[in-house]
Amino acid sequence: MKPRDSFSGRFGIIAAAAGSAIGLGNIWRFPYICGQNGGGAFVLLYLVCVVLIGLPVLLSEFSVGRRAQSNAYRAFKILSPGTRWYSIGIMGIVAAFMILSFYSAVGGWTIEYIFRSIFSTISDHPKEQFNGFITGSYKPILYQLIFLFLSLGIVVMGVKKGIERSSKILMPLLLILLVILCVRSVTLPGASAGLTFLLKPDFSKLTGDSVLLAMGQAFFSLSIGMGCMITYGSYVKRDEDLTYAAGMIAGADTFIAVLAGIAIFPAAAAFGISPDSGAGLVFITLPSMFLQMPGGMIFSACFFILLCIAALTSTISLLEVIVSFCVEEMHIKRWKATVLVTFSVFALGILCSLSLGIAPGLKLFGKNFFDLMDFTSSNILLPAGGFLISLYVGRVLKKRIMAKELLTGGGTRKFRYLRIFFFLIRYVVPVAILIIFFSGLFRG
Ligand code: PHE
Repeated sequence: MKPRDSFSGRFGIIAAAAGSAIGLGNIWRFPYICGQNGGGAFVLLYLVCVVLIGLPVLLSEFSVGRRAQSNAYRAFKILSPGTRWYSIGIMGIVAAFMILSFYSAVGGWTIEYIFRSIFSTISDHPKEQFNGFITGSYKPILYQLIFLFLSLGIVVMGVKKGIERSSKILMPLLLILLVILCVRSVTLPGASAGLTFLLKPDFSKLTGDSVLLAMGQAFFSLSIGMGCMITYGSYVKRDEDLTYAAGMIAGADTFIAVLAGIAIFPAAAAFGISPDSGAGLVFITLPSMFLQMPGGMIFSACFFILLCIAALTSTISLLEVIVSFCVEEMHIKRWKATVLVTFSVFALGILCSLSLGIAPGLKLFGKNFFDLMDFTSSNILLPAGGFLISLYVGRVLKKRIMAKELLTGGGTRKFRYLRIFFFLIRYVVPVAILIIFFSGLFRG
């Protein structure tokens, strides 16, 4: 058998895993919830969630993956034979399919908007134009397919030559584009009101819901709770320092989310546009803002290329979870597995796209298929996965194994952090997740 593919070194791991973490969640979701939940106060709350819940789960996933050197399903079979912990891996595969189905639809929209910016075909009724587009019959599906093909092209090439190499190019590019947009945004006259809106802590706007939103956002944004980081962890060499990598990834993810807010809110304030939510903010509010800006179509193209890159590097990580399973468990060749998985995702994705437009009848539990996939994966499967991983690592896996994974590379200098880690993973993480899980369900 061929030796398992792996990341070549520290920068490769960080680029690929940060590529997975930094995605649509950072660029439209974070700025919006942040703005609505007391700006800077929410940023602080989010940081607390990342440090107390996100980082321990990320470290656990990385450690399980690296120790087992295997996909998210087999990892548990190797580390705890004869138990049913491998169900975490199966849940992760289901979650990956669900997230991919709507995520790739949005990825397709970004391609359409890149073209619209380049050819200056954004209309001065961006709302009607956007709704007309996403409810259309074939166009959104066609773009979704193009987006999926881009992702397929990368995943087929393998871990080092595909995922790592593309992330090493795309992530720095993403940062450059974002910095250009930030500079443009904060230098517009009247921009400061937007900065105040985003960053000034207003603790009176924080509610019980804000805490839950911050925790849910930390899960989705760090790509944890569904085996993605177990899979990527399994490609990390035995002598790498996992703690350092995890810290850098969580830091980069948060930094980019804040930068995205700086790129969006000051500019919106400068044009007197009130920030809308979700898809609306990115595909309706921003185009109308770019239309009013001198040279706006150039910035618009930059923005949608940035969004497309962010979505692409996350999509490949989601595909890799399923592809690695097919290759290692079903013994299918990598290219066959990738094609098979991409087309299965596409089939599910068509339902997502159509449920927004010509097939509004595609509803389950009162939600259209698109929202159902989004809701079930982010609010149910990811927290459940995170909860189970915290139980597994905190109570089942031998402490000695975790300690070895966490201390490698950094030596004994980090020994004192181990106690904090075990305290968080045993008590804080499971209790906090139970709270998100139930309140998320009840809020519907
Ligand atoms: N972290 C990605 C984002 O913020 C989404 C994602 C979730 C990717 C789960 C992989 C796994 O957009």
